[in-house]
Amino acid sequence: MYSFVIVCALLPCLFCVARGCCLPTQYSANLVETTGEYNRDLDVASLAYSTRDYFYDYTGKQIAYREKKDNATAHTKIDSWVIFKYSTGKKYTIISNNCTTDDLTDDMESPCIPDDATPFGDHSYPAGIKASIWYIPDHVQGGNKRLSVTKDGCMPLSLSIITGGSDYILRSSLYQNVTTKITDPSVFTVPDICKHDSNLSDTLYYDRLEEN
Ligand SMILES: *[C@@H]1O[C@H](CO)[C@@H](O)[C@H](O)[C@H]1NC(C)=O
Ligand SMILES: *[C@@H]1O[C@H](CO)[C@@H](O)[C@H](O)[C@H]1NC(C)=O
Ligand SMILES: *[C@@H]1O[C@H](CO)[C@@H](O)[C@H](O)[C@H]1NC(C)=O
Ligand SMILES: *[C@@H]1O[C@H](CO)[C@@H](O)[C@H](O)[C@H]1NC(C)=O
Repeated sequence: MYSFVIVCALLPCLFCVARGCCLPTQYSANLVETTGEYNRDLDVASLAYSTRDYFYDYTGKQIAYREKKDNATAHTKIDSWVIFKYSTGKKYTIISNNCTTDDLTDDMESPCIPDDATPFGDHSYPAGIKASIWYIPDHVQGGNKRLSVTKDGCMPLSLSIITGGSDYILRSSLYQNVTTKITDPSVFTVPDICKHDSNLSDTLYYDRLEEN
């Protein structure tokens, strides 16, 4: 009887939980980022500023970006081009004509705001743009994200991420010039230098066999 009352009291809440929208399945954006890092084990901190031309393609199961990163602590300026191919589970990082291939362990993140996200309220920008903020916890790695999207069209506006320790990374990103298409499809084409890597994936291996 008691539990029946509780169930009845909770039931309406199942229908009043706010649901997040889905970002476009394809979009391009220019990101302006500030990243702070603190490694508790090593007790070292650093700060970096970067800009990224970022391309998200959920349809093609791929993400790519070209980044210019200015590490103010290490005094380095690094241009990189990174390609995530979720269909083959590979990540390619190209820095000054040197390609590194890594295995991807996670699936591609859905463009939808997850069900366990909490709405952190709405606000508005000049020119009548209305935005919603979502708090997204990372139950696996620890840490969380705070994502701001337009109410109309669910386009990304800003994102701040704090990772779980012991290497804490806090990054804030502003999304500029967001468009719902891939403005530079060539960014997803894995360059030849990656195909001559010692760790060839099967596909790349057969591509090379065909060339010869
Ligand atoms: C800055 O460079 C150092 C040395 O390469 C690196 O350990 C650190 O992660 C970089 N910091 C950021 C925020 O990228
Ligand atoms: C290419 O990258 C790998 C892995 O980061 C590094 O070990 C190697 O020294 C780099 N080669 C050149 C020529 O920069
Ligand atoms: C954003 O778009 C405007 C108008 O097309 C362009 O002038 C500007 O260079 C773009 N900015 C970036 C950072 O891509
Ligand atoms: C290639 O794979 C071997 C063994 O898995 C690994 O030790 C090596 O670091 C990899 N090399 C590159 C360039 O990724």
